[in-house]
Amino acid sequence: MTDRTASLHFSDGAPSVTFPVLSGTLGPDVIDIRTLYSKTGKFTYDPGFMSTAACSSAITYIDGDKGELLYRGYPIEELAVRCDYMETCYLLLYGELPDPAQKEDFVSRVTTHTMVNEQMQFFMRGFRRDAHPMAVLTGLVGAMSAFYPDSINLNDAHQRDISAIRLIAKMPTLIAMAYKYSSGQPYMYPRNELSYAANFMRMMFATPCADYHVNDVLVRALDRIFILHADHEQNASTSTVRLCASSGTNPFAAIAAGVACLWGPAHGGANEAALNMLYDIQAHGGVAKIGDFITRAKDKNSNVRLMGFGHRVYKNYDPRAKLMRETCYEVLGELGLGDDPLFKLAMALEKIALEDEYFVQRKLYPNVDFYSGIVQKAIGIPVQLFTAIFALARTVGWIAQLNEMVSDPEYKIGRPRQLFTGAGRRSVKPIAER
Ligand code: CMC
Repeated sequence: MTDRTASLHFSDGAPSVTFPVLSGTLGPDVIDIRTLYSKTGKFTYDPGFMSTAACSSAITYIDGDKGELLYRGYPIEELAVRCDYMETCYLLLYGELPDPAQKEDFVSRVTTHTMVNEQMQFFMRGFRRDAHPMAVLTGLVGAMSAFYPDSINLNDAHQRDISAIRLIAKMPTLIAMAYKYSSGQPYMYPRNELSYAANFMRMMFATPCADYHVNDVLVRALDRIFILHADHEQNASTSTVRLCASSGTNPFAAIAAGVACLWGPAHGGANEAALNMLYDIQAHGGVAKIGDFITRAKDKNSNVRLMGFGHRVYKNYDPRAKLMRETCYEVLGELGLGDDPLFKLAMALEKIALEDEYFVQRKLYPNVDFYSGIVQKAIGIPVQLFTAIFALARTVGWIAQLNEMVSDPEYKIGRPRQLFTGAGRRSVKPIAER
């Protein structure tokens, strides 16, 4: 809070109005315009929320110019090397890093909720085998409110905590089931003695006739993907979860809305789109054709974008991309894939784009999804499943933000307004006269 104010003057002689300016702990101040409409009869106009803080939050802080990302004050660079995903989940949900006993208790709560209701298999069967995993996941997560009706009261903190644990625990199981269903293999049940990431990899890649031997480098890589994607402030899917839950709907329904939003190629779908773009360039000539592709990406009439490049907030570099790049080289080295044509193509594209005037001028750097797609592909995760992995990782962020919103005394149903540009009032003519 500050005692500073901002005044708004009108050129038509309407009286000026004054608003408080609020300061957070970090980041730009905000002008508190909640009384604007009652004082002036006017709304603000800000499509895409380019200048609008829709809430106050104490969870994640991003400084896009500095390339800084903090979860509850801790830099992502430290969390990625000193903590695992379970500790990160605890931090996002409860505000502090767990001590050893708290971590043991949290891991045990998550682990004992990893199985899903057996009926879920029959629900799954309603989908086509070739359905996109994000379509399946949106349905499965939404359906959880029908399977777990004892934890759907958004206004009950205890029920919210149970639904949080259920969602974090069951997301890997549901995604692995969606994968097994699409490939016609039997579902693999979770194994409680494995870590969160290792358990997911086993449910994905083991079969009843051959167990999966967990590779520590790959498990660490996947765990890092989870940490880097766990939360990202008020992005499109998080804002969707908040808006959806603001009506008082249940947590499973709100998270399903987040999954649906994340699917879009400008958001979570970018890792899948980036890999598909690489396949496309490879199919049309590979490294030799990168120049042509970049020319098309720069042409405003082409509708082509370099997927995995650019970010709404990071206009310097994406700190997650730096960490994921490290992991990318580690995984390719571990698997001996350094000479794989697709990966060589990705690295050549990265180099050319980083040196191209168009991308340099517009500060378009590779984002986290450019590298996370390559890592997931190397691990053996099918491209269509990439965004579902992002959803798995982001679930904890969505829940932490949802909990914060519900506990905020200033929380109200979200209800944006509009600048109406349609027809004025008119009369309906009888059909014969139209
Ligand atoms: N390829 C080519 N040109 C681009 C790209 C790109 N990937 N991204 C932005 N531009 C250009 C754009 O045409 C515009 O040029 P000009 O100023 O000449 O008109 C300028 O750069 C600014 O673009 P913008 O669309 O105003 O930027 P934005 O902040 O609204 O968009 C973005 C951010 C991420 C949607 C966009 O960069 C993009 O579409 N990138 C590709 C998709 C992608 O990788 N998304 C993943 C984001 S990271 C995951 C997440 O956090 O969700």
